[in-house]
Amino acid sequence: MEVRINPSILAADFVNLESELGTIANSDFIHVDVMDNHFVPNLTFGTQMVQRLQEVSPVGLDVHLMISNVDNWAMDYVQMGVHSVTFHAEASADYLTLARRIRDSGSRAGVAIKPGTALEPYLEHLDEIDQLLIMTVEPGFGGQSLIETTLKKVKRAREAIAAAELPTWLQVDGGINASNIQRVASFGADTFVAGSAVFSSHDRASTIADLRRSAATGLAEHQAKS
Ligand code: DX5
Ligand code: ZN
Repeated sequence: MEVRINPSILAADFVNLESELGTIANSDFIHVDVMDNHFVPNLTFGTQMVQRLQEVSPVGLDVHLMISNVDNWAMDYVQMGVHSVTFHAEASADYLTLARRIRDSGSRAGVAIKPGTALEPYLEHLDEIDQLLIMTVEPGFGGQSLIETTLKKVKRAREAIAAAELPTWLQVDGGINASNIQRVASFGADTFVAGSAVFSSHDRASTIADLRRSAATGLAEHQAKS
């Protein structure tokens, strides 16, 4: 199983985004947090900004929509040709229909759940989504500490993915850093968002490489146990 490190540009310098992207060109995907000050109490950017990022980014975009009315908005991002569009199940009237529409239009479809949202209802249709995002902090802000209780959901989701032999990626987002990534990976996550851990570093390329190495070690520990 491969691991992926997706730096979140929420922690980047917004005035110099193009050069900031250049410092993380060895990442797997660029994680783009879209917030509407409604679904979450913070505001970032919308379609115009993501369109420009898509044009200049050295790697594919992993768009994380933290917005209400996502059934109306998600396809605008898909139509830009971004690599993946992940939306919150809590913000969709019919998450499966939206996931199918995203897939059918050429982006990978991701479904995210907040720390307080039960995982079980989403295990039933894992074959219809490309990425399950288990939030490890309350969505809205970077720089928070990982909520330990969310790791039980990571473990359970990995068991379900493995049992059904699915290729679904299992992503974690929030509070991931060099000190905990190996342990988080040992619960079965394979795709890691890291904002402050990457952008606070003076040598971001080597920080990304170190995170990837630690994540691979943790995931190998998980596989050895299961
Ligand atoms: C939080 C965002 C995250 C955030 C992670 O709502 O979804 O992607 O940028 O930041 P860190 O890694 O600093 O917790
Ligand atoms: Zn995010």
